[in-house]
Parts: sequence; structure tokens; C-alpha cells
Amino acid sequence: MANNRENWGSKIGLILAMAGNAIGLGNFWRFPYQAAKNGGGAFLIPYFIALVMIGIPVMLVEWNLGRYGGKYGHGTLGPMVYLQAREGISPKNAAIIGALSGALAFAVTLLVNSYYNQIIGWTLGYSYLSVTGGYMDTAKSTGDIFVNYIQSPQIFIFWLLALLGLALAVTRGVQKGIESWAKLMMPVLYIFGIILAIRALTLGSPINPDWSSLKGLNYIWNPDFTKLNWKASLAAAGQIFFTLSIGMGIIANYASYLKPDDDVVVSSLATISLNEFAEIILGGTAVIPIAYAFLGPEGVNKGVGLSFIALPNVFRSMAGGQIFGALWFLLLFFAGFTSAIAMFNYLTALVEEDLKIKRSKAAWIIFFGYIIVGLPVGLEPILTKTADLVYLTEVDNWVGSYLLLVLGLIEVIVAGWLMRERALEELNRGAIWKVPTWFFNLFVKIIAPVAVATLLFFSTKTYIEDGYFDMIPSFVVDKPQLIPWVVGGRIVVIVVLIAGFIQSYISIKNN
Ligand code: PHE
Ligand code: NA
Repeated sequence: MANNRENWGSKIGLILAMAGNAIGLGNFWRFPYQAAKNGGGAFLIPYFIALVMIGIPVMLVEWNLGRYGGKYGHGTLGPMVYLQAREGISPKNAAIIGALSGALAFAVTLLVNSYYNQIIGWTLGYSYLSVTGGYMDTAKSTGDIFVNYIQSPQIFIFWLLALLGLALAVTRGVQKGIESWAKLMMPVLYIFGIILAIRALTLGSPINPDWSSLKGLNYIWNPDFTKLNWKASLAAAGQIFFTLSIGMGIIANYASYLKPDDDVVVSSLATISLNEFAEIILGGTAVIPIAYAFLGPEGVNKGVGLSFIALPNVFRSMAGGQIFGALWFLLLFFAGFTSAIAMFNYLTALVEEDLKIKRSKAAWIIFFGYIIVGLPVGLEPILTKTADLVYLTEVDNWVGSYLLLVLGLIEVIVAGWLMRERALEELNRGAIWKVPTWFFNLFVKIIAPVAVATLLFFSTKTYIEDGYFDMIPSFVVDKPQLIPWVVGGRIVVIVVLIAGFIQSYISIKNN
């Protein structure tokens, strides 16, 4: 049992770091447009159901998985899942399941961050534009300004700055790097979020008396059972995975820096609560009502462009817009940065533990790795003169939405069915509140795996129907210059998965 790994410095530091991990662009950029696109109030019903059926059980399982692996000196998914799986099956089969999990986590942490880091760069760039009034000129549409922005080489400056900040934080280690940044950025994020939410709620509509922000609140908070459908439910459950950072390996990685008897039950629930407060109360209350007041019901439906196109439109017509704009984009930046650190740290731990390279050096290896995988994301709009971002979308469809479900499914099955009672015993060690046996038997063993498996089944079905499994997806056939970017994205995902499998398998064998 190699155990000279670093530990978290304090309870509050740990919780803020975990909250920083979970609270990300998912809360403020992804949640509002997902909710808006899927009928507002109709989205929140499956959302809460998925939170209870999947979010809570998988979160508990991941904290437990991480603390267990950490005890053996491991912070990555391959060896972690192997260690738990071998309790119930032969070491040989456990190694295969472990390597598969390691491959999935490797693909997610490398490739989700490849585009996430770019978006963090945009948030930094847009913070700068807010302060300098870069999108205030009403002669140009905010859509054109955004397209110009992502097609200009200046995106690389802010992207590199963000990457540099991440590398510097990670080289300093768990306590001095991750924890101290979270202690600074998370409180500031909450303050900015609260200011924006209050501003949002006190906004009348200058454009149309029918569009006040309170109407916008009603739009999202009015549960409309008649609009419930499969697509909204899939999107809601996918959002639960993304927003809680589950199925990515990064919660388990952070939990690997716990001490063997540190509580995991209350801490998991605290992480979920902090994330949901930021998502529903701040994300939901600031963004949707502001957009509604200025843009009406059509405006909130803007999809991905909501943050970077619709909101700047709002900021330029509101008093103090440059300040509120800066608060908004800095909030996005802090949210993104503290999540990206977790992915960065996952890969750094992998290099550190498997290749025995010192953290200070390992972090720079990862820095260069992220530059390479991030380049196509940044280059696509510049080279193709389009703004479809098909490479980003392709990678996100696989690693940011689909593979998470597979990893989550493996994790709950290993905990519930291979470790069985031992998993519950482990989970409750050091716990202030203990997870009752009935909850474990019902939720971890049955409800969560069945729910995730169902989700995976229907996601696969929709992916097939939407053409994601076609060699050349139908959505690019009429834009031939984009085909290489989609196909390229796909090849990158496959290559990274294979490399991750081999790497994890070797790591498990050597352990
Ligand atoms: N939970 C994160 C979020 O809501 C997901 C994430 C983590 C994405 C790390 C990228 C990097 O944004
Ligand atoms: Na989140």
C-alpha cells in the first residue's frame, strides 16, 4: 500500500474543491439552454427524478470508489475499478473491466477538456470584451460579433492563458493548487451569481410588457406534465450526469485524496446541494429570466448561443450592462476553471502514478497534451470560415454525453453487485450519517443500474436515428468542407479510447 499521497487540507477546502469540480459551465451555460429547449417546466420533472434515481447513488459510489483507490495509492479509474471488481470476480476479468473504465475516464478527461478549455478561453475573452465594450456597438449583431470572435486568432491567446493558469494551479498540488483556488473562486462565483439573480428578478421588460423576468421564472418553474416526453427526459438525465461530474472519473479522483476514515456520505450530499443551488437557483434564475425579459419566449430558445449571443444582446440594452456582462462572463470563467482543474488533475495523476514522473513535470506534459487536442477545436471555425463547430459537437456527443453513461453504469454495477455488502460497509466507514441498507439495496443495486441502462438504451436508439452511427452523418452531407472535421473527431475519440484501454491495462498489471 503505497501511501504518501497528498490529502485535502481542510473539510471546507475539500467541499469547495468538490463543488468547484461539479459547478461548471454545465450549470450556467448548458443547463439554461437545455431547460429552455426542452420546454422549461417539462424538463424539471425528469430532471429531479434523475437526480434522485441516478445522481445521488452514483455520486455516493464515486466518492467511495475514490477513497478506496486512494488507500492503495491510486487516483485513476483503471486501478480503482479493478480493486473493487476483484472482490467479486476473477482478477483477470476485473482487470478487463478496470481497463475499460480507465479507457472511458481517459477519453472523457482528455477530450471533454479539449473543447471545454476553449470555451473557458471564450469566457475570458468575453470578460475582456465586456470591460472594453467590445460587443456594445448596436450596429453589429451579437451573433456576427460571436462568429467573428471564434474565427479570429485572438481566441488562442485567451485559451493559452486559461491553460497556463490551469497548469500552474495543478503543479502546486492538491492543497496549494486546487484547494486554494477553489477557496477563492467559489465564494466569488456565488456572490456574482446572487447579484445577477437579484438583478434578473427585478427586471421589467423594456421591450414588451408581457415579457417580465417573473414570466420567465414561471416559464421554467411551471411543471407542465402535458409536455413530458422522451427527448426531454433523456436530456434531463444526461444533464444530471454532466452537471454532477459523474461518469467522468474526476469525482473519484478528488476523493482519492481523502483520508481512509474521512466521511463520504454527507460530503457527497453537500456537493450535490451546492451544485444544485448553483444550477437551479442561480443558473435558472439569472439566465432564463434575463433572457426572457429582453428576448421573449423565442429568445430563451436560442440553444448554445444563449450565453454568448443572446445575453450580450441583453447587456447592451441594460443600464450598467458592461458591468453585469463582466460579472456574467467572469462567473462562467470561474465555474469553468475550477472544473477544468479536476480534469487536468486526473491526467496529471495518471502520469504521476503510472509513469512515476514528478507532479511538477507531469502537469506540463498534460499542458502540451491539451494544446494538441484543443487545436482542432480552435482551428475549425478559422480554417473553414464556418461557425457550426462540428468537431466540438461530435466530440461532445460521444465523450460529453454518451460515454459518461457507460462509465456510470460500470461503476454502480461494480459497487452494487461485485462488492455487494462490502461496498456499503466501506461507504459507511467514518460517515456522520450512515446510508441505510434498504437505500443501498434499492438504489445502488437496482434503481440506478436499471435507470442508467435504460437511458443508455434509448440514447443509443436516438443516436442511431439521428445518424451519429452513420459513416458520414446526414447533418454534414450538404457542407462537404465540414466532413473531415466530423470524421476526424470520431477518429480521435476511437484512438484515445484504444490508447486509454492499453494504458490502463498495463497500469493494472503493474500494480
Ligand atoms: N460538472 C461539470 C460542469 O457542470 C462538468 C465538467 C467538469 C466539464 C470538468 C468539464 C470539465 O460543467
Ligand atoms: Na455542474
